[in-house]
Amino acid sequence: MTVTIYIPRDSGALALGAEKVAKAVAQEIETRGLDAKIVRNGSRGLYWLEPMVEVATEAGRVAYGPVSAKDVASLFGAGLIAGGEHKLSLGDPEKIPFLAKQTRLTFARCGITDPLSLEDYRTHGGLKGLENAIAMTPADVVKQVTDSGLRGRGGAGFPTGIKWKTVLDTTADRKYIVCNADEGDSATFADRMIMEGDPFVLIEGMTIAGIATGATKGFVYIRSEYPHAVATMQKAVEVARKAGVLGVNVMGSPNAFDMEIRVGAGAYVCGEETSLLNSLEGKRGIVRAKPPLPAIQGLFGKPTVINNVISLASVPIVMDRGAQHYKDFGMGRSRGTIPIQIAGNAKHGGLFEAAFGLTLGEIVDEIGGGTVTGRPVKAVQVGGPLGAYFPRSLFDTPFDYEAFAAKDGLIGHAGITVFDDSADMLKQARFAMEFCAIESCGKCTPCRIGSTRGVETIDKIAHNIEPEKNLALVTDLCNTMKFGSLCALGGFTPYPVMSAINHFPEDFRPTPVAQAAE
Ligand SMILES: Cc1cc2nc3c(=O)[nH]c(=O)nc-3n(C[C@H](O)[C@H](O)[C@H](O)COP(=O)(O)O)c2cc1C
Ligand code: SF4
Repeated sequence: MTVTIYIPRDSGALALGAEKVAKAVAQEIETRGLDAKIVRNGSRGLYWLEPMVEVATEAGRVAYGPVSAKDVASLFGAGLIAGGEHKLSLGDPEKIPFLAKQTRLTFARCGITDPLSLEDYRTHGGLKGLENAIAMTPADVVKQVTDSGLRGRGGAGFPTGIKWKTVLDTTADRKYIVCNADEGDSATFADRMIMEGDPFVLIEGMTIAGIATGATKGFVYIRSEYPHAVATMQKAVEVARKAGVLGVNVMGSPNAFDMEIRVGAGAYVCGEETSLLNSLEGKRGIVRAKPPLPAIQGLFGKPTVINNVISLASVPIVMDRGAQHYKDFGMGRSRGTIPIQIAGNAKHGGLFEAAFGLTLGEIVDEIGGGTVTGRPVKAVQVGGPLGAYFPRSLFDTPFDYEAFAAKDGLIGHAGITVFDDSADMLKQARFAMEFCAIESCGKCTPCRIGSTRGVETIDKIAHNIEPEKNLALVTDLCNTMKFGSLCALGGFTPYPVMSAINHFPEDFRPTPVAQAAE
């Protein structure tokens, strides 16, 4: 029997040498005349073990990692093909604690299947949700999604079903489904992992969204920094179209749905939904005032569902297992699972899908394993560049939209950046203002001008120029930005700035060096 060897083609694994490993493995198979084939899978999301090579043995999968090209000969020498022991042996990947402790609903297939094999997708439960959706009325599909409690995973946490209902209830000659795959937040890579590791789940989710709302066309807007995701999605759309999953009769039904992949040009603000729609229309990526909501007047002025990759990719499991199954996971109003992305100075960086409710401390200390430098964790930024910095004293905060909001923070797209005690929080606050100044679309004054004034004022504090007065000025400026900005870029930049000031006041006092320089 031909043995399958899995070597990820995920961007993260590629960055760590997976391509060279794949070449070396192919070479060994050939020179040793082995009956084996290579499948380029997605990543399981255990990045400190990438490239992680897996072999499908009769007793199940056996993993090795992190594998470099120079290890390959010795791995084959140790009998890798039959799961032989080696110093890089990891055993059954599902038993690695980081993976064993997860609840994988959205990422159930990621790293397991061949991303571009529709047959593999079906074998592992794919397309069941779509089949169920086709047999239901659009209103019932929308009800299922609403009842599941699924909220947008792009940042704002808006209930997905309610958004879909608005589009369903709006009459128009054309409607669109737009998938936001701009994934600009720091520490985030869940969207990319899905697009590279299980693209059909996104295609299935978008098709269900189309059937539920009456939209016949979908667009995936992917950031240009993700060439591998773009290529995989393009190929997957072709495969789905050929198989009749996309097209004029979706899976033989009277429903039509097709989609296109579009590539962004590298602006953080183009992840903001209205700016993204402008960019998709070929216009400058500038934020639109709301109302009208995109659900009523979105792409080309038509009713549009705009959802994040993970929101859409979570729909097939809801439609397969039912709303209640999904809703049974989580806490409070945060239902289901969330793919937490651990990055920065973390020992075990990667993707951890879990039901809402884990505390920040559990995520950082236990799952993430503390810092890679071995120094104490000083702060974690949750929710990307617009998210607050959390000190250790707030590590008991459960991962839940409302609990984070109550601590003046946000979950956002669930990226966590870990910092050790060498971090200078004044520099981080300055960086937040600088980021906003660089990425501002320029439409409104509090953001466009405020962010630049913010950088200047924080610089004055750093140089001990009237520090008390300038701290008060930054606080005042943050209030103006928070309440006066048109979108969350200007409106949320105060979160990292004020959390740094409030939780780490010692970093905003003049240092002896700064005093000496005065
Ligand atoms: C500056 C800015 C950048 C954003 N970037 C992203 C992004 O990269 N991906 C994303 O899904 N949502 C992003 N959002 C949120 C979107 O505006 C929008 O809320 C989301 O696409 C809606 O989908 P959801 O309901 O599925 O989360 C961003 C918002 C702002 C203000
Ligand atoms: S807050 Fe900033 S990014 Fe948002 S609309 Fe205003 S200027 Fe543009």
